[in-house]
Amino acid sequence: MRIAKAVLRRVRPSGRGGVDADLIHAVKNELVDEIGGIKGQMVAVNAGTRSVQDQQSMAGTRIEQLLAEVSWTRDEVLAAFERITPMARARLLHAARITDIDQPTADALNYLGSHLGPLSDVGLWRNDPVVVEWAAGTARVGAVNERIVEQPYVHGALASLPPGSRIVDVGGGESLVGLGLASLGHHVTVIEPAGYPYEHPNLTVNEATLEEYEPDAPVDAVILLSAIEHFGIGAYANNGELDADADLAAMKVVRDLLAPDGIVVLTTPFGPSAVNELERTYDVERLGSLFEGYRIEEVVIASRQDATTWTVTTTAGSLDDGITTPGAPGHVAMVRARRTA
Ligand SMILES: C[S@@+](CC[C@H](N)C(=O)[O-])C[C@H]1O[C@@H](n2cnc3c(N)ncnc32)[C@H](O)[C@@H]1O
Repeated sequence: MRIAKAVLRRVRPSGRGGVDADLIHAVKNELVDEIGGIKGQMVAVNAGTRSVQDQQSMAGTRIEQLLAEVSWTRDEVLAAFERITPMARARLLHAARITDIDQPTADALNYLGSHLGPLSDVGLWRNDPVVVEWAAGTARVGAVNERIVEQPYVHGALASLPPGSRIVDVGGGESLVGLGLASLGHHVTVIEPAGYPYEHPNLTVNEATLEEYEPDAPVDAVILLSAIEHFGIGAYANNGELDADADLAAMKVVRDLLAPDGIVVLTTPFGPSAVNELERTYDVERLGSLFEGYRIEEVVIASRQDATTWTVTTTAGSLDDGITTPGAPGHVAMVRARRTA
């Protein structure tokens, strides 16, 4: 790496300076040979009177002299390095710039960062609001999902709780919300059948469903961030059989977890009523039926404007206060309510 860095420091940006093709070819070969020679010297440690370090340093100086004589483009140096696989790999691992990312590397990075990749195998994949998309020579914002409004909404809805409050995050996997609130000084329990990989002195993980959870004391707040729509559906259904009203039953269990006047913060897809193999979408009537035994304090509807833009389209104090069901999906409802006594 020491030599690779020395070489790259000398390389001029692509397209600058005159280039003598024959000379470049000759120097490239010499560069490859020099580095190959250094590798040989490292193997034959006792072969000469000079130390390996001295020989490496002499060879490095020679390479720098050669480079000073010609106008190398960065691409040409990189191409030379490609002929020495370990060197090329070292560059990608330790000194890669965006222009070093070719399409196969971009494909690998996209896969590694996706929910299909190995991070899911250890429960570390997170549903982050911004999806980064790699491509040859670039990386860009691929999409912005509804977490961009849901996560800050949950934090805002709980902002009035004093440190040390007891908070339960139901279905809190794939998210840093529970860990963040624990780090702020709250006592957080994440109830998540798929597990939660983070540890913190203020964090308890209950690897169970809400229905299996056995509470020890009433809590100040319960979070259901994009969780209620999955209850009783698909992979989350008992024996794979749809339980159409598992969401209503879950909200009764949540009510029993809460201290009187305790807060529930819930976010869920909002639009024409629908159930598919993954989740429900709530219309205004079904959303209202979740909150029997609660007093709604705030309803915020946010809407997708395009692949990367979400905006708040309605804010109200209750579901009767001008909230209507949109004609198409692409919306999220965010509700703060309190348990009635
Ligand atoms: C969309 S995911 C994760 C949502 C997460 N809160 C976030 O911020 O991205 C929904 C989660 O609900 C959980 N879930 C589904 N049914 C559940 C149940 N009966 N009890 C507790 N969690 C459940 C799933 O395991 C899943 O991790």
